[in-house]
Amino acid sequence: MRHTRIIVNHYGGPEVLRVVEEECPEPKDGEVRVKVLAAGVGMPDIMAREGIHPETPQVPYTPGWDLVGVVEQLGNGVHSVELGQKIVAMPIYGAYAEFVCLPEDEIIPLHSDLDAAEAVSIVLNYITAYQMLYRSVHVQSGERALIHGASGGVGTALLQLGRLAGLMMYGTCSTSQGASAISELGATAIDYKKQDVIAEVLRLTTDGVDYVFDPIGGAHLWQSRKALRRGGKVVGYGTTTTLRAKGLDSGNTGHRNRLHGVPIFALYLIGGWLLPGHKRIVPYSIQTLKRLKPEWFRQDLITLLDMLHQRKIKPLIAQRFPLAEAKQAHELLAKGGVIGKIVLVPNEI
Ligand SMILES: NC(=O)c1ccc[n+]([C@@H]2O[C@H](COP(=O)([O-])OP(=O)(O)OC[C@H]3O[C@@H](n4cnc5c(N)ncnc54)[C@H](OP(=O)(O)O)[C@@H]3O)[C@@H](O)[C@H]2O)c1
Repeated sequence: MRHTRIIVNHYGGPEVLRVVEEECPEPKDGEVRVKVLAAGVGMPDIMAREGIHPETPQVPYTPGWDLVGVVEQLGNGVHSVELGQKIVAMPIYGAYAEFVCLPEDEIIPLHSDLDAAEAVSIVLNYITAYQMLYRSVHVQSGERALIHGASGGVGTALLQLGRLAGLMMYGTCSTSQGASAISELGATAIDYKKQDVIAEVLRLTTDGVDYVFDPIGGAHLWQSRKALRRGGKVVGYGTTTTLRAKGLDSGNTGHRNRLHGVPIFALYLIGGWLLPGHKRIVPYSIQTLKRLKPEWFRQDLITLLDMLHQRKIKPLIAQRFPLAEAKQAHELLAKGGVIGKIVLVPNEI
């Protein structure tokens, strides 16, 4: 049987995403073959394509952090999964494909009635949001949070979970549609292109916020620190700014640079500890925490999938694309102004 997948042969812009048709992969011992129903498209995919994400694989590789699919073939020695079972997984790369083989212990069963695109949005974005709120810091009802990139994938997840936690929230964005989405999710929208975000937060709160969630990185982390009240924390979890400054094209010459943005991050982190005011900068990385605490990853994902099943959370789906349009999906995300999650649907049913 043949299938289609996307490959990256060298790092660069969206044009490096190639569609290839080839024989379906065969599951090895302990693996299952999954028919992919939905694969998430996120900023980490773009950064890996550019060669500048800490998890950038060696080329050639197939992008795709997270997926929802159906178990379609079992390798030898697989006992805990059944054929036809709907599952979810975060392989970090490989999900932009019609079929993918995954180790049995990497997959988590899913309620069969859940929408595949909504469920895939839970994996990278909502686990990131949930673990930042409850593992990196421990938010309490009534506390204040400033959420940067609030209309994006992780941002909207933070807003939904933050509202359930009883936080008072302020969210940055640059479009009027983004501002409406942020208000609907219970936060005060601040346009970071037209307003001085720090001045606005201090005006609205008088003494600042307890937490800032910052995916922008670089010098922006230090700016975020200025919005904190005494004892507050900035959770830094990305380096979007260095990309966005160049229109989400890093100008990569084809090299892999997995330390991109990391040294400056470390510098600010240490600075947060040394300076007075007890205002700390805390790093968060989903893949690092998954390696250190795999049981937290599994537990938090199950909690979030239950919340989705009970309709306590509702991921915003920005757009669904067929697999062959992965390039257009990356271009759209890079352009900005996307509200919620972009999803590829390789085998729509
Ligand atoms: N550490 C982790 O484990 C982890 C996990 C997941 C994601 N991430 C990182 O999180 C970041 C966001 O990912 P995502 O998938 O949510 O991306 P996304 O959906 O594209 O959202 C990014 C948002 O950032 C906003 N933005 C861009 N530049 C900004 C600036 N200078 N100030 C304020 N907002 C700005 C954009 O808003 P406008 O369009 O309104 O300008 C956009 O809504 C990426 O850097 C990604 O690598 C990290």
